[in-house]
Amino acid sequence: MLKKKALLCVNIDHIATIREARKGVEPNIVEATLLCEQAGADGITVHLREDRRHIQTADLFALKEVIKSRFTLEMSASDEILEIAKKINPHLLTIVPEKRAELTTEGGLNLKEQKDKITNFLLKAFDFSLEASLFIEPDLETIEIAHEIGAKQIELHTGKYANCSINSLEALSELQRIKTASNFARKLGLKVNLGHGLNLQNLKPILQIKDLEELHIGHSIIARAVLIGLPAAVKEVKDLIQNS
Ligand code: PXP
Repeated sequence: MLKKKALLCVNIDHIATIREARKGVEPNIVEATLLCEQAGADGITVHLREDRRHIQTADLFALKEVIKSRFTLEMSASDEILEIAKKINPHLLTIVPEKRAELTTEGGLNLKEQKDKITNFLLKAFDFSLEASLFIEPDLETIEIAHEIGAKQIELHTGKYANCSINSLEALSELQRIKTASNFARKLGLKVNLGHGLNLQNLKPILQIKDLEELHIGHSIIARAVLIGLPAAVKEVKDLIQNS
């Protein structure tokens, strides 16, 4: 039987980061979206941060008009952003923790401490028929809580694995942690996505994990795009997934 391949969802936040460096209009995120999709992206992902450091509210309305693949909106558990999400109606909301001073999303949601807050937020999203995923660490207890509070889908944070030297003992142990967490979540009936810090070098071992739904990859693709162009940067990751 053919192995199911994970979908490649390209996070284009950093196209907007470059644009916001001059507060202008280029590079154009709509054009970037079309190029990603033509190059084989199965989805486009953006994070509307509370501080609006890259993606802006107006971008979501522009993207809604053009995205033909899967549209994922990453967001904190904020009522202000939920109001916007309701108008956009993306395919998926990925709820992430957000700290003002962080460079990127550091770690997953702390469901052990924030169980009530995230449960209430999920209920609000479900009230509007929005599909939601929780961005969490590959930790079995956290996965159990995600399941218990009604999530149908999770994204496991791969940042710790990605920060290890390739093929180091630490990397192998983190990889094993992600595999164990993913298998555990699937047994509970959860769909499993992965993301954070993934690149051409560290992705191959990740692709051995069975039945992953989506891979959300941003920084490494946009960084490669600066050197070899966006379509080529998307295509090389897509090819790696297809050939796994
Ligand atoms: N998944 C989630 C939930 C994220 O917050 C991010 C970063 O915005 C990513 C995936 C993509 O991470 P990276 O840019 O390191 O590929």
